[in-house]
Amino acid sequence: MTAQRIDGNALSQQLRADVAARTLALKAKGITPGLAVVLVGDNSASQVYVRNKVKACQDSGLHSVLEKYPDTLSEAELLARVHALNNDATIHGILVQLPLPAHIDAQKVIEAISPAKDVDGFHIASAGALMTGMPGFWPCTPYGCMKMLESIGYDLKGKHAVVIGRSNIVGKPMAMMLLQKNATVTICHSATQDLKAMTLQADVIVAAVGKRNVLTADMVKPGAVVLDVGMNRNDEGKLCGDVDFAGVAQVASYITPVPGGVGPMTITMLLVNTLEAAERMAA
Ligand code: GUN
Repeated sequence: MTAQRIDGNALSQQLRADVAARTLALKAKGITPGLAVVLVGDNSASQVYVRNKVKACQDSGLHSVLEKYPDTLSEAELLARVHALNNDATIHGILVQLPLPAHIDAQKVIEAISPAKDVDGFHIASAGALMTGMPGFWPCTPYGCMKMLESIGYDLKGKHAVVIGRSNIVGKPMAMMLLQKNATVTICHSATQDLKAMTLQADVIVAAVGKRNVLTADMVKPGAVVLDVGMNRNDEGKLCGDVDFAGVAQVASYITPVPGGVGPMTITMLLVNTLEAAERMAA
């Protein structure tokens, strides 16, 4: 079997066209959806990520502001900026880029963001809403994965989904979203004793560890759907995921590439969440 690719760029283009159209409709009512992106320090990967987020907003007609601070910014100063953005009527979504410098308690900063503007979906209130099926913002990366499954018309009901990785940003919310769609969900992690025994039972596998070749062809049931959340570099310095793409593509029915898979979807879902934040505030 040679897997079909789920193209994150093509799907993003479709979804971003919808965001642009809904943004125009809101603008006609005098509201421009606005995202504030806050970056502290000079982490080079973070600089690329925030630039891409701000550019994506501009391309879809959203307002965006990028606030950059040196890594000497104190926790109190950052909290004061978050409070100011909470009270800024032109801003509907607030994103504080992680990681933050070690002297700042990231969880404390996240909890300072108003849940109504928590477009990253990292606030405890957002996590609780996801867990209980209440309205709230879903973290962008797993949300993007769900949209990719939706795009191939995949019905999760009764299927076995195996999530590899248990981060608060991807693994745990991913499992909750899959559960909400009636999948049977297994979460695997670094202490899992026999990962291969788990993944071989899976109809859907989401790899979200941050390590190359976590998933190889011998670990995949023929016809499984494989979503690769990893962002790593191979020996030649090229971007690659957590999945051995060439090998697994011979076994899976669908697979997401890296780059061009989940990555663009993460930014797309940030735009969707920001637009929805503005729509909810306008309602
Ligand atoms: N750092 C890496 N990914 C993300 C993300 O999705 N949101 C934030 N705030 N920081 C990140």
